[in-house]
Amino acid sequence: MVNYKDLGLVNTRDMFAKAIKGGYAIPAFNFNNMEQMQAIIKAAVETKSPVILQVSKGARQYANATLLRYMAQGAVEYAKELGCAKPEIVLHLDHGDTFETCKSCIDSGFSSVMIDGSHLPYEENVAVTKKVVETAHIANVSVESELGTIGTTGNSIEGGTEGVIYTVPEEAKQFIEDTGIDTFACAIGTAHGIYPKDMKPKLRIDILKDITDQVSVPLVLHGGSSNKDEEIAEAVKNGICKINISSDIKVAFYEQARKTLNENPCLLYTSDAADD
Ligand code: G3H
Ligand code: ZN
Repeated sequence: MVNYKDLGLVNTRDMFAKAIKGGYAIPAFNFNNMEQMQAIIKAAVETKSPVILQVSKGARQYANATLLRYMAQGAVEYAKELGCAKPEIVLHLDHGDTFETCKSCIDSGFSSVMIDGSHLPYEENVAVTKKVVETAHIANVSVESELGTIGTTGNSIEGGTEGVIYTVPEEAKQFIEDTGIDTFACAIGTAHGIYPKDMKPKLRIDILKDITDQVSVPLVLHGGSSNKDEEIAEAVKNGICKINISSDIKVAFYEQARKTLNENPCLLYTSDAADD
């Protein structure tokens, strides 16, 4: 068993406490490979920002959870090399689907996990979330969970329902009391993926305000890609502490990779190759 502290990582507790005090949110980026990790850490160090590194189901299948965990450990050292004396980096399981997945991440050094039972009936969602909380808290690992379901644009592996099921504030309050979670993911109108031209997200800031008034745990916004900066800022002003971003950085990575390969069709055979 590996504890996240031995990897130089932190959990979300102090990070969110500072964010709430300072009125800002923490960026949570999904990563699948080394190049994305390099960019995330460079940006975090440059902007002196704490950062949450997230591993999704797709990333676990594609890149292997063990390799990704070692990369997060390496990220702490990398941030120090770039000049950050005390990196604040969380390694988080994104959209964990079962207790077993969460447990295996807790045991292998993740400092935060999400158990996503949002598709389950309320009682079942509470039961599985509670079980994860009990196990995670023994190792001081933070737990995020969701009620209501964010939408999908149809182009994201994280999925979501076709229409958003907005979180009901009173239910959110009850769910947090029933489960003892550390952070709560609310559905207020965003969707996973990049919005197609004919799809306009309808963010319900009124619902968010209601949730903020009724609960005291930090709130998470899923589906942060391709929303306007003003929408994100408005959400942060009204209680969001963590912004999940996956598709935006994937798109940036693929666009640049295509551009570089198109501009340099013989890259492997020239002196520009990275290992020359
Ligand atoms: O859990 C991950 C996210 O909610 C990311 O969504 O691909 O729309 O940025 P996104
Ligand atoms: Zn999500």
